[in-house]
Amino acid sequence: MKQKVFVTRKVPQEGLDKITKKFDVKVWPSENPPSRNEIIEMAVDCQGLVTLLSDPIDSNLINGLPNLKVIAQYAVGYDNIDVKEATKRGIIVTNTPGVLTETTADLAWALIMAVARRIVEADRFVRDRKWNVAWGPETLLGIDIHGATLGIIGMGRIGQAVARRAQGFNMNILYFTRSYNESIAALENEIGVKSSNLEILLRESDIVSLHVPLTAETHHLIGKKELEMMKADAILVNTSRGQVIDQNALYEALSMGNLRGAGLDVYQEEPISKKDPLLALDNVVLVPHIGSASMNTRATMSIICAKNIIAALNGETPPNIVNPEVL
Ligand code: DGY
Repeated sequence: MKQKVFVTRKVPQEGLDKITKKFDVKVWPSENPPSRNEIIEMAVDCQGLVTLLSDPIDSNLINGLPNLKVIAQYAVGYDNIDVKEATKRGIIVTNTPGVLTETTADLAWALIMAVARRIVEADRFVRDRKWNVAWGPETLLGIDIHGATLGIIGMGRIGQAVARRAQGFNMNILYFTRSYNESIAALENEIGVKSSNLEILLRESDIVSLHVPLTAETHHLIGKKELEMMKADAILVNTSRGQVIDQNALYEALSMGNLRGAGLDVYQEEPISKKDPLLALDNVVLVPHIGSASMNTRATMSIICAKNIIAALNGETPPNIVNPEVL
């Protein structure tokens, strides 16, 4: 008898086709996420579960699925999964690292440029028919990106990809990381990125970009105190996880003019509340968690996810296991 897999949302067909060839697959039919109980109902007899970062895969859910052998996350981040509980139950957890590095770095740069040069405001200005004078010496002035100091918090794969792109802008690049490795050392030699402590990075950077995973240590890493360290003319970009920033403190800093602007792909609560005060600010660019959202990358993520679940259910070691201690 074929093993069973529940996929909590329709992921790109490329990956679904691979899984469907091997297993008995059910896909949640709606764009709206299933609730915890609905996941349990759909997956109660399944050996495999494909999850999204918005699914709460906590201990109650894990323990409601007695046959589960693998949770294959369709994302690089997996802070929504209680990996400790999964490991305790002998369940393999996998993710999709690597493939979305460059795509997410592209988006971080899109936000940096949009905020620094006020692109969204400028677009609204034109569409709102406010462009009445041909050329205004002081219309919509932004900050220069070239020659500026870029502070990268979190120097994993995505942070490094953001740093590489900064070369073309002749920037001074500072980074803060807790896990130094050989590829960072290579970047120090190749493009002169400089290690910094968090405080100096925040005080000296014109542009700060966040690339840390969400953990107990990085929760509210950027709060009121840290925002006060930043230059009033600086901008902050977040394509990591919303909870890394204290969003109330950020609103405060942006609305009081203590921070020039922000570009956000991720939020404390997703989707952002329709009443969130950030929505009323002109100096923020807000996009709906689309860091990895290129057609190519999302298709490749679905293939990687499929390879992980197929390997795990075949009794092999999946290429992207996050809890190898379970084996
Ligand atoms: C991830 O994979 O963790 C990203 O946030 C998705 O865009």
